[in-house]
Amino acid sequence: MIRTQITIGLLLTVLSMVLVTLIGLNENARLARTTEEQMARSIMRGAALFNTNCVVCHGEQGQGIPGRCPPLNTPELFDTKNGRVPQTGWSGSLPDYIRSTIAQGRLRSTRPDQYPGNTATDPAGVAAAMPLWSQQYGGPLRDDQIQDITNFILNWGKAPGRMAEVPEPPQQTPEQRGQRLFTSLGCAGCHNPQASGDGGLPCPNLGNISNVAATRVQGKSAQDYIHESIVNPSAFIVPGYQDNIMPKTFKDLPTDQIDAVIAYLMTRKQQ
Ligand code: HEC
Ligand code: HEC
Repeated sequence: MIRTQITIGLLLTVLSMVLVTLIGLNENARLARTTEEQMARSIMRGAALFNTNCVVCHGEQGQGIPGRCPPLNTPELFDTKNGRVPQTGWSGSLPDYIRSTIAQGRLRSTRPDQYPGNTATDPAGVAAAMPLWSQQYGGPLRDDQIQDITNFILNWGKAPGRMAEVPEPPQQTPEQRGQRLFTSLGCAGCHNPQASGDGGLPCPNLGNISNVAATRVQGKSAQDYIHESIVNPSAFIVPGYQDNIMPKTFKDLPTDQIDAVIAYLMTRKQQ
């Protein structure tokens, strides 16, 4: 009798431990999801701020202007061993380097021979190497906005210089190639190509785009609609979403890359 009671007691203890662990795991997953969602939103806000303030000098895709302003979407910025951080003698982390460069600007360029700044954007004709942006120093942006732009730039670090330098293994189907391009071109930073829901990203989910696309614009096939969405995002604005968030520069991609991305997106459907 006593033995049975002990056994049951033990069982119950083990059971409650398992339960507590499960609830804890679930809570951790939920927290991770919330953090991910907050990060996605911050990156989106950063993208909008970058579009308004930075593209004149650094380019829509962070590719820079040769002879004037450096690329930011480049392995050199993200290489913390040999890249810009050690080159400039910065002793802090890469996020700090980016944040403080944005906040304080660079009154004098560290590479005046290569990147003196863009005098064309300065009415006084003075080479603005890199304007300062923080309100702390008299600039226009709040600290949280500078953090958003920093997160946006750091997001490029997942696949820096993606337009030119992503090596591709041979012998892939167009769909496989498209899937790689979807990440390396930065589509995945905004769009969730998996399940339904927006995955916390304020851009349309593409998990069922192969079915949805055919219904968007009357008389347009799914392929044609997806093609148009990529090369001319403003032609049709998905209800509930905003224009001018999706970059308009994908029209300059090589045709075979666009076709591969379309082939991949055509596999995105729910049964
Ligand atoms: C008037 C042109 C101009 C504008 C506008 C501008 N920048 Fe810059 N930026 C530069 C130049 C020039 C440099 C290079 C300075 C140097 O080499 O020391 C630079 C450097 C940087 C760097 C450091 C890159 C490196 O390789 O060390 C970051 C990060 C940066 N800018 C972010 C931004 C952000 C974010 C914005 C918008 C909020 C912005 N810039 C707006 C001209 C500009
Ligand atoms: C900075 C965020 C951003 C990036 C990067 C981006 N998009 Fe978009 N995309 C959007 C937004 C916002 C919309 C909805 C507004 C609109 O219709 O233009 C959209 C709409 C679309 C649509 C239409 C979806 C529908 O439900 O009808 C497709 C397809 C699409 N994007 C594909 C891509 C592909 C492919 C890439 C990469 C080559 C890409 N997007 C990169 C933000 C982005």
